[in-house]
Amino acid sequence: MDPAREPEVDIDDLTSPDTFVTGVPYDLFAQLRRDAPVARTCGLDGQSFWSVTRYEDVVRISRDPKTFSSNPQPSAENPVLINMDPPAHTRYRQLVSTGFSPRTVAAMEDGIRRRASQLVERALVQEQVDFVTDVAARLPLQVICDLMGIPAEDHDLVLNWSNRLVASDDAEYHVLPESRERAQADAFAYFVALANDRRSHPRDDLVSNLVQAEIDGEHLSEVELGLFAILLLLGGNETTRNTLAHSVIALAEHPDARLRLARDPALWPGAVEEMLRHSSALMQFTRRATTDTEIAGQQIAADDVLALWYSSANRDEHVFTLPDRFDVGRVAAKPIVTLGGGGPHICLGASLARLEIRVLLQELLARTSDIQITSPPIRLRSSFINGIKHLPLRMVRQTAN
Ligand code: HEM
Repeated sequence: MDPAREPEVDIDDLTSPDTFVTGVPYDLFAQLRRDAPVARTCGLDGQSFWSVTRYEDVVRISRDPKTFSSNPQPSAENPVLINMDPPAHTRYRQLVSTGFSPRTVAAMEDGIRRRASQLVERALVQEQVDFVTDVAARLPLQVICDLMGIPAEDHDLVLNWSNRLVASDDAEYHVLPESRERAQADAFAYFVALANDRRSHPRDDLVSNLVQAEIDGEHLSEVELGLFAILLLLGGNETTRNTLAHSVIALAEHPDARLRLARDPALWPGAVEEMLRHSSALMQFTRRATTDTEIAGQQIAADDVLALWYSSANRDEHVFTLPDRFDVGRVAAKPIVTLGGGGPHICLGASLARLEIRVLLQELLARTSDIQITSPPIRLRSSFINGIKHLPLRMVRQTAN
């Protein structure tokens, strides 16, 4: 960033979802990394937290669950995996890891490719397509529903819960004040019923495996199962769809990237990392200090909350050369933090997310010769998800040579 240029956004604006409607404030993050890498941030409600913006601090905190808890409540046990700490987290994660190993996920490639090619074909017959609603939101939804054994007629129901649960700050999804609570209760009841059905009629799906999963004679309880299913839905849908939307914007804006990928398909795995890095679909996650401590010279008191800004750490100039540039051939010295900065909570769906992104974009590029953005993308109002709600595109079909 030009040091003389002051960011237009103030640090306390990071607490408002309105700030992100126009974009991620990368200039502010660059200034914070330089001048105040662990900065106090105050919300309108008077609550404050620390914004952590440098790569090395995000990684260090992520890998130290003893000092930095994932449970927002100091004294209550939390039943949701992502808010648990070891050792409870370790046991639960072992139980639910079934179905997410890189090998199991690799075996899903053909099925995902079939789904992806159908979606792209369907989009190509339209003059103009809303890439988010017609393609990017559909693939992760279909994949997670196939994995869990949710029938096709329920997919729209599930998508609607997912939107209302994650994007409750956005008026488009938050129709009524109680909308979020209602979606949570309905989704929970649905998944408990699905689990009960699979307990008596097991099939070849994740929910059947989850009801049978056992460690030292212990199974997941009904509450654990229902909450885990909701977490999968949110973790699997909202993040992957937004990475896809941002990736297509980046590809439309960088026609050279398309040529490089066509010439050298070996670039794909690195290109997917670059797409994940450049967009950081989840902008931040929080931790709570369990004791008085210190980060980058800043004193932190027990129970202070820290926001780990992945959107900033992924653009840390000490780790990524010319970090704002989108470069499908980037060779980075360190791993991206989009799926977590390491440690016990590293994204359980990481292999699946990478596979979905690669396969969908491969199918898209193989069938199109040009992608044009026909009107500005509409962003989600959220300080958590770097979201695109609508992305109008004109896609030109590749003609056979
Ligand atoms: C681009 C797509 C995705 C992004 C950016 C993403 C990002 C993340 C992040 C940042 C975390 C937390 C890491 C931490 O606290 O240290 C996480 C955890 C998790 N993700 Fe993902 N994720 C993605 C896709 C998926 C998919 C496809 C699934 C499942 C189908 C999934 C399921 C989960 C679960 C269950 C956790 C909790 C793990 C735990 O607490 O042990 N995610 N993800």
